[in-house]
Amino acid sequence: MATAGSGERTAYIVTGPTSGIGYRTALELAKHGTVVLVGRDQGRLDEVRKTIEGAGRQAAAVVCDLSDVGSARRAAAEIIALGLPLAGLVNNAGIMEMRATKNAQGWDTTFATDYLGPFALTEALMPHLPDGADVVFVCSGVEDPERRPATVAGFRGGRYISAEASARGEWKPGGSSLPGGDAYATSKQCDLAMVLAFARETPRLRFNAVEPGFSPATNLARDANVLLRFLGKYVLSALAPYIKYWSTPARAATVITNAVLNESGETGVYYDERGRPMLGSTQVRDPQFQDRVVAETRVLLATLSA
Ligand SMILES: NC(=O)c1ccc[n+]([C@@H]2O[C@H](COP(=O)([O-])OP(=O)(O)OC[C@H]3O[C@@H](n4cnc5c(N)ncnc54)[C@H](OP(=O)(O)O)[C@@H]3O)[C@@H](O)[C@H]2O)c1
Repeated sequence: MATAGSGERTAYIVTGPTSGIGYRTALELAKHGTVVLVGRDQGRLDEVRKTIEGAGRQAAAVVCDLSDVGSARRAAAEIIALGLPLAGLVNNAGIMEMRATKNAQGWDTTFATDYLGPFALTEALMPHLPDGADVVFVCSGVEDPERRPATVAGFRGGRYISAEASARGEWKPGGSSLPGGDAYATSKQCDLAMVLAFARETPRLRFNAVEPGFSPATNLARDANVLLRFLGKYVLSALAPYIKYWSTPARAATVITNAVLNESGETGVYYDERGRPMLGSTQVRDPQFQDRVVAETRVLLATLSA
């Protein structure tokens, strides 16, 4: 665990703490320090903050719409201004849109929320994180076109052309027939590429990734029809603990928390739903691909700096 070097309790930032895996992770990390809750709705953030405070623990709320890079940068400044002894960042928030929409910049909303916003938030926070601090990204095995449970579900892996093309909502042909499948898989592949590139670029911090397993009870499939959502919440979630590659938000939160509190000093590790090291796709393991994704993202985001 990274220590803050002061008498204060260490602080951990969690994005998307208002639902599913992020909610359980926030409750878990609150046992180890102050949790900075980063989400898009003040009311929902306050509810989580009150739950944590009701258990005698500490939390602060920062409003941030991760689909908007400007909002991500403002949230980073607000977090830094809190003056807390930051020890870790969990980039958990994510969406899987079944009907593509555009954000304020005209960019694909899934790509912006799942990748560009977290990228901007992380880069803005990094200079303020002490040596040894842990940055954990909640990724997804659907980025790998060879991964059996992902292909069975209809995914065809990340379909990256360039950061600009992804922002336009364009994906390499031959992809998934699942609505939103290519946007989601490509965003998650970029997250993993970023983790692996940042781990090499900035060895004073630790960058690790988690594939949390399939948790059917969360709100990730909120665009799905009522029947599918009912099945996910009340039928499939009961089976989840017994099925390979599946999980629950509570179990995923344990894996993520262990990755954040990791004392081994490991960086650039991708953990599976049981917390064991796993491999990403052949493409994402290629350092040249990782560096290209990061370099193209920096050029794209620089267009918003002026
Ligand atoms: N569930 C799975 O099977 C599964 C599998 C692999 C990976 N994952 C990944 O796990 C992570 C958590 O997903 P989940 O399943 O727990 O889904 P979830 O229940 O829908 O939670 C998603 C969280 O992200 C927040 N969020 C969404 N859009 C946002 C935005 N524009 N700005 C800020 N916050 C935003 C949501 O806030 P609101 O409450 O305001 O909507 C919510 O707190 C995601 O990155 C997902 O891709 C999930």
